[in-house]
Amino acid sequence: QPAGSDHPGWSRSAYAALSYKRHQRSTREGREEDSPCLQHPQPGTTWLSEIMDMIYHDGDVEKCRRDAIYNRVPFLELKAPGEMSGIEQLESTPSPRLVKTHLPVQLLPTSFWEKDCKIIYMARNPKDVAISYYYFHRMAKIHQDPGTKAEFLENFMAGKVPYGSWYDHVRGWWEKKQQKKILYLFYEDMKKDPRQEVQKILQFLGKELAEGIVDRILHHTSFQEMKKNPAANYETMLPILMDHSISPFLRKGVSGDWKNHFTVAQNERFDQHYQKLMAGSDLHFQMEV
Ligand code: A3P
Repeated sequence: QPAGSDHPGWSRSAYAALSYKRHQRSTREGREEDSPCLQHPQPGTTWLSEIMDMIYHDGDVEKCRRDAIYNRVPFLELKAPGEMSGIEQLESTPSPRLVKTHLPVQLLPTSFWEKDCKIIYMARNPKDVAISYYYFHRMAKIHQDPGTKAEFLENFMAGKVPYGSWYDHVRGWWEKKQQKKILYLFYEDMKKDPRQEVQKILQFLGKELAEGIVDRILHHTSFQEMKKNPAANYETMLPILMDHSISPFLRKGVSGDWKNHFTVAQNERFDQHYQKLMAGSDLHFQMEV
């Protein structure tokens, strides 16, 4: 795994094939100055990549717009019809480069480790991820119909969703953090105190920005501002791939929305399953926010 369209949850005609061959090819791609942002789907990838893009452009919104290729920061493993693949985009991008990916730790091309790239991982509590992912499946035409919410929750718990088990994903990157240059962030912390989290990123990158620039970054990447931004919503770049009338891409942008969706029984079952799969780990998530 992953096996492109054979992977559970990918539609057969999916444009986004996680081709193993492409990963092998991409082992030549990492550069020392690269900064990949990683995460399992739906933890705020778009949010983090917007923040990173703004940091790299010193808070210059116009420059970010000008450099936009495919929703700005290339997705390592994806290719949209008629667009360059993430790898092709990277090849034509000067260093320092930003890359985003949902790959689990064991599938990151080895060059990223060899070149000692800085990696930022963002994780989000699994209940909100599952609900957000369910709505994304409904609106993104690359995905199969997720079925009912109850069915999707079962598939999520079993890891039968694109990119596989959330539990393995977050644990895998958490454990890797002991040996490698990885900044591990949480969506819930970013919601509570975005300024503090942006400062953590700046410190990790060894970059200093004036307070006014940080203010601009925080404003531009707030949920309200990003919701108004057609590029951040994938409205301009991928109209044929997402049906925004079913659900907007930037849907609610809050922590704890799962409470509006889980039944009491589903929550109990989810908690039991969570305890089992996360046993022995010192990685903890804020579900009650
Ligand atoms: P919801 O569906 O809960 O609203 P990803 O980019 O990894 O696919 O994650 C999408 C989720 O991140 C969506 O969650 C989206 O609304 C949320 N998100 C995107 N930008 C955000 C922002 N600026 N602030 C808060 N949440 C944001």
